[in-house]
Amino acid sequence: MTSSFYESDAAVEQYLLFHYGTPEQICPLLPEARAACGFPIRCVKESLGDIKLGKSERALDLGCAVGRSSLELRRHFDEVVGIDFSGRFITAAQQMQRERHVAVCAHREGAVHDELSLDLSPDIRIDHVYFEQGDACALRSDLGKFDFVLMANLIDRIPDPAKCLAGLPDLVHPKGWLVITSPYTWLEEYTPRAKWLDGGERGTLDALKEFLMPAFDLRRTFDLPFLIREHRRKYQWSIAEASVWQRR
Ligand SMILES: C[S@@+](CC[C@H](N)C(=O)[O-])C[C@H]1O[C@@H](n2cnc3c(N)ncnc32)[C@H](O)[C@@H]1O
Repeated sequence: MTSSFYESDAAVEQYLLFHYGTPEQICPLLPEARAACGFPIRCVKESLGDIKLGKSERALDLGCAVGRSSLELRRHFDEVVGIDFSGRFITAAQQMQRERHVAVCAHREGAVHDELSLDLSPDIRIDHVYFEQGDACALRSDLGKFDFVLMANLIDRIPDPAKCLAGLPDLVHPKGWLVITSPYTWLEEYTPRAKWLDGGERGTLDALKEFLMPAFDLRRTFDLPFLIREHRRKYQWSIAEASVWQRR
């Protein structure tokens, strides 16, 4: 598994800022670009849309990174499980959950960094949110079932996406929901070419339909732009496609 980037100091700082930074902290120089900040917040809000939830519902955030989308899901679900392969990310998520605050050194340029203080908004609940290290392609068998599963920008970062998708029908309750977002940035560094969902040829959404349609109905798709700061004057600007699926 090639996920060593996600164990690095640079990745932890980058993702803490991406998840918990204010738009002004992330993008101090260009206010016009700030609409693409707050991805985990928009992702949860726009994915849920007008879905009506029952009582005592559980959500799973697969590939949760440093945890902001899991904590956002807690606004709507009684219990949330966040799972990520990176031990560093899970430790950072748990630290933010425990302390509601973290300081990061955001890269400015060269060897210069800005000390930024990131805070969890007081209206976010931290109880009944459980972060754990795990492999989306080989999840523990006693996770139970969920009413909502989020896989945000994970599918093109795992070694065997088809294996991960094959496990989803057993994880989602009948009539429950699955949301997959991705900019479909397939790279051999993370996924061997032979395992790219569409073989690198047809388009990922078509491949997702093929893999998921026997167990899920596709309800809608929409775009989710997001901005990841590399340094104060350099960003990754991506447009994830979100697909919302309902378990048959
Ligand atoms: C592009 S990041 C997306 C993170 C987060 N969902 C977000 O939208 O900000 C990909 C995430 O997948 C995690 N990851 C990579 N391989 C994984 C695996 N086999 N199982 C679970 N998580 C994995 C990485 O550690 C990283 O947190």
